[in-house]
Amino acid sequence: MEKKNIDWSNLGFGYINTDMRFVSNYKNGAWDEGALVADPMIQMSECAGVLQYAQTCFEGMKAYTTEDGRIVTFRPDLNAARMEDSCKRLEMPVYPQDKFVEAVSKVVKANQAYVPPYGSGATLYIRPYMFGSSPVIGVKPAEEYQFRIFTTPVGPYFKGGVKPLTIRVSDFDRAAPNGTGHIKAGLNYAMSLHPIVSAHHEGYDENMYLDPKTRTKVEETGGANFLFITKDNKVVTPKSSSILPSITRRSLMIVAKDYLGLEVEEREVYLDELKDFAECGLCGTAAVISPVGKVVDHGKEICFPSGMSDMGPVTKKLYDTLTGIQMGRIEAPKGWIHEIC
Ligand code: PLP
Ligand code: COI
Repeated sequence: MEKKNIDWSNLGFGYINTDMRFVSNYKNGAWDEGALVADPMIQMSECAGVLQYAQTCFEGMKAYTTEDGRIVTFRPDLNAARMEDSCKRLEMPVYPQDKFVEAVSKVVKANQAYVPPYGSGATLYIRPYMFGSSPVIGVKPAEEYQFRIFTTPVGPYFKGGVKPLTIRVSDFDRAAPNGTGHIKAGLNYAMSLHPIVSAHHEGYDENMYLDPKTRTKVEETGGANFLFITKDNKVVTPKSSSILPSITRRSLMIVAKDYLGLEVEEREVYLDELKDFAECGLCGTAAVISPVGKVVDHGKEICFPSGMSDMGPVTKKLYDTLTGIQMGRIEAPKGWIHEIC
């Protein structure tokens, strides 16, 4: 199979139309078989649930070319399970988990020519999503839904690649105390647009959101969880019921413990203890692990000892081991790598 003529190494994190997408419709209480289609456009009612009341959720995953030339995905079963949680919270029908994983494989296989080659630094981003497509005008769930998956080749999420980021403590909240922060609802991202535009405008790479109830504890950014490394090399990640349970973060905690022999801890992390950590990073499918060099809290700078030029040493080990597993250089725990072709 011949690859597309794309400058893989210079890709940013953007949308490029690929050949095929997967589409399945839910009507009269059941999902149809679903099919791969070429048309990237969607036509629906002006009164569709997604357009009026934001009834939509999504997932984010990647396909990788391994060192020995296979195309694989990373723990797709966890994306399927998380999408089920999102659908239930938003009163949407669940797309069966086994069919989700099957559909991901189909769409990646159909777009093989867009899967970036091994060593290019790029990957194929996979975006499963679902939305209410039938008309609703009273506030209630739609009766019809569409589940779709498209793919797009991507480079690093943050422009500087692995250059440490500067982030600020946001005055806005990302999620309500008993809201939807723990699921991947489109509405969480809509509300983060104003804070991210203003953060960029003021020269910051991202926002650090605090817990919405007390505003004293670290939650996450708009699109990634936090990892902190203590001065004695313990890996600490914030525990909260209003952050998205990142698959990357859950995997990294296992990698830290089982591959690197590090102590790991998921616990509440207070803003005023940030100054005591040695390293900080953001983790997620898009972010992979992006180092944070500095957090600015209303003019007060918290600078991590790892500095502003390189990834900290423990963050780097975590990054190398995780990407090594994803690219087939390091043996993966059983069930983590799903081979497509
Ligand atoms: N937190 C938020 C708000 C996200 O949007 C994402 C991206 O999916 C993550 C964390 C990271 O999750 P994952 O590692 O499953 O991609
Ligand atoms: C992902 O990492 O897959 C996400 O969905 C985050 C998004 C901000 C790109």
